[in-house]
Amino acid sequence: MTNVLDDVREHYRATGLVERLKSALGPEHQPMTPQQLGALDQFHTRGLAATRDLAELAGITAGMSVLDVGSGVGGPARFLAATYGCAVTGVDLSEPFVEAARYLTERTGQTGQVRFECASALKLPFEDERYDAAFLQHVAMNIADRTQLYREIRRVLKRGGRFATYDVVLKGGEPHYPVPWARTQSTSFLLTAAATREAIEPAGFRTLIFKDDSEAAKAWITQLRAAGPPPSLNLGLVMGPDFAQLATNLGRNLMEGRLGILAAVFEASSTSI
Ligand SMILES: C[S@@+](CC[C@H](N)C(=O)[O-])C[C@H]1O[C@@H](n2cnc3c(N)ncnc32)[C@H](O)[C@@H]1O
Repeated sequence: MTNVLDDVREHYRATGLVERLKSALGPEHQPMTPQQLGALDQFHTRGLAATRDLAELAGITAGMSVLDVGSGVGGPARFLAATYGCAVTGVDLSEPFVEAARYLTERTGQTGQVRFECASALKLPFEDERYDAAFLQHVAMNIADRTQLYREIRRVLKRGGRFATYDVVLKGGEPHYPVPWARTQSTSFLLTAAATREAIEPAGFRTLIFKDDSEAAKAWITQLRAAGPPPSLNLGLVMGPDFAQLATNLGRNLMEGRLGILAAVFEASSTSI
């Protein structure tokens, strides 16, 4: 019998990913920038622009120690480190994703500033009050136990630290599946924006910014549709040949108003209960 975490791991299994990246990226002596990898390693709606916007909202600066929870193949972590000069630790459930994240970080020459560990967000392998900020982009929808998720994030943040989340949320109807985070409903645990906030605040957070980003997401989908075929380096390389269908369904769900996008920043206030 498998549990939900195993099913989520299976969704992001990405067998042979590092080998695929090696052949797609070409000679290893050619240095790459996080921007060049943006179409391949920013695994969320609005890509690099969303990571940049969230970092600005959260006030990320040099000298901060940032945790990226559910870091995927590491694009957001590399971009934050390169753009703001902070140190970033990424943690992810998927071992192939963590291996790929380490490989891509070697390719961008950032191994001193960005590192990755394989672990569950529900049991973060870090001591209390270690980080100045935590990022959670398009991860919560894979997690049923939101109470534990937000408590863990609060536990590892310093008092006064920032928690920045960018989530797909339920809005006006049942979504079409498969979607990029779940091929069936069994690994999808969507909440509305209001329910997300209700789950976060009791973990010891005060809301600073709470923003519906759905219109920007829809504009991005319209732009992608008009642009025609995707660039050769894209998330299909990471997720497999059905990624186009998963992405199309996300677009339909957003355009039909079934799903929305939430961008929010919280301050770690009282200790969690
Ligand atoms: C849609 S991807 C987003 C990746 C990354 N945040 C980004 O925006 O590029 C979702 C990621 O969440 C990770 N994930 C899902 N459930 C998790 C859990 N319980 N603990 C840690 N990571 C998890 C997956 O392995 C996957 O890498």
